[in-house]
Amino acid sequence: MESVIVAIDGPSGTGKSSTSKAVAAKLGLSYLDTGAQYRAITWWMISNGVDVTDADAVANAAGKPVIVSGTDPSRPTITVDGVDASGPIRTEEVTSRVSAVSAVPEVRALITELQRSIARGAEAGIVVEGRDIGTTVLPDADLKVFLTASPEARAARRSGELKGADVRATQEALVKRDAADSSRKTSPLAKADDAVEVDTTELTLDQVIECVVTLVEEHS
Ligand code: C5P
Repeated sequence: MESVIVAIDGPSGTGKSSTSKAVAAKLGLSYLDTGAQYRAITWWMISNGVDVTDADAVANAAGKPVIVSGTDPSRPTITVDGVDASGPIRTEEVTSRVSAVSAVPEVRALITELQRSIARGAEAGIVVEGRDIGTTVLPDADLKVFLTASPEARAARRSGELKGADVRATQEALVKRDAADSSRKTSPLAKADDAVEVDTTELTLDQVIECVVTLVEEHS
């Protein structure tokens, strides 16, 4: 297969990460989790005493951490200033603050440039997952997929991942984060006009993976 760039966007809990990793592994492509990058910068801000509710403070500090993403779908990694941040970026503290940090235009400009340079360097092609990949980061992607699912299905999946977390509280947190991500001024969570929408509510993960693999093969 020729080098192909696949953008997979959608709200939290739609199976974006699991699908994107599996599709990349099956097709021999690189993989980039852009949410992990926003989480990493948020974790650095919290760890370094930056008030994440102060957009000016976040903007001023945005260029300081060095974030490096590993793009092997079987072993995606993320480091901040050389430190493995894979665990810390998944904490509740980071999850509840990441939308405030990712809404700051200076943060988005830096991370978007990083994402584009990683995509350019992926010789065999890459699957990039996020919220604004098809609309802003890689508008010329060969294939754009927008995953959706009902809020109930998304909360049930996410609380399963969080090992027994309360489904109702998880749903409220997800809906709040999606509302913040969809309503921010700079590159909000949105479906690109030319993206293929896949509603995963009634599908198993394997069915979603199969569906996206077929879409990539059809576009190659
Ligand atoms: O995908 P994940 O849930 O890890 O993303 C965490 C957060 O990162 C999102 O809620 C959003 O605020 C931000 N994000 C973003 N743009 C992307 C990917 C993630 O703003 N392309």
